[in-house]
Amino acid sequence: MNSFIAWIGGKKLLRKNIIKMFPEEKEIDRYIEVFGGAGWVLFGKEPSKHLEVYNDVDSNLVNLYRCIKYHCEALQEELDWLLISREQFFDCKNQLDTRGLTDIQRAARYLFIIKISFGSDRRTFGTNKKNLANTIEYLPQIKDRLKNVVIENKDFESLIKVYDRPGALFYLDPPYVGTEKYYDSGFDTDDHIRLNTLLKGIKGKFILSYNDDEMIRELYRDFEIVGISRNSNLSNKTNAEEYKELVIKNF
Ligand SMILES: C[S@@+](CC[C@H](N)C(=O)[O-])C[C@H]1O[C@@H](n2cnc3c(N)ncnc32)[C@H](O)[C@@H]1O
Repeated sequence: MNSFIAWIGGKKLLRKNIIKMFPEEKEIDRYIEVFGGAGWVLFGKEPSKHLEVYNDVDSNLVNLYRCIKYHCEALQEELDWLLISREQFFDCKNQLDTRGLTDIQRAARYLFIIKISFGSDRRTFGTNKKNLANTIEYLPQIKDRLKNVVIENKDFESLIKVYDRPGALFYLDPPYVGTEKYYDSGFDTDDHIRLNTLLKGIKGKFILSYNDDEMIRELYRDFEIVGISRNSNLSNKTNAEEYKELVIKNF
């Protein structure tokens, strides 16, 4: 199934390539999506009979997921009165920086600004055609998919430490090098190195997606690195040419 939102760095186009690289279901006993965003891979894969975890450090985003899961109808009602206009876009955006909203009011405003903003950047009013009604109608399907998914709001390091064990599969899609400023949380070189140090020592399996960057190739030189070219083909000959994206794994 599709996600309900677009997201900067979202894996809408690459998810099939990534899911194909997953180990067989019988080889794992938990699936953890560490940098969840719009969850294109989580929603794109078959639901697992094992534990599934969605995580993101963005607390407005995680509150939105939780409200879809636990208060879907109330969220739909709250969204109903939001009119698509530039004024309302900036009002919602400003209200998110204040206290006093209920979780449902906050979730509705966040979903509204994701849908209405230009390229889902949550900062600029977008002037293209929007269809909020379709998204509102789609939310119950997302609610159903999230029924057995644990939703976490942690920094990646504490999340991985909590869920790591030999049967774990972590899918990681951190902010790409050079795009860190597009996320409210920020992410810097020390975070890329912190993630690398942590992944070198985990007991579980990981699949990591990144842009093709020299520092990333160097940090992960001891792992299998698969390049994905512009026409979305996979290739192991990663040193020969530059790729749009890299998928790195430890198994
Ligand atoms: C490239 S996006 C993930 C996109 C996602 N795979 C999708 O398909 O929509 C990276 C995500 O990492 C989150 N993030 C940034 N810093 C983080 C941290 N320290 N721990 C956990 N998540 C973080 C951001 O909020 C953002 O949603």
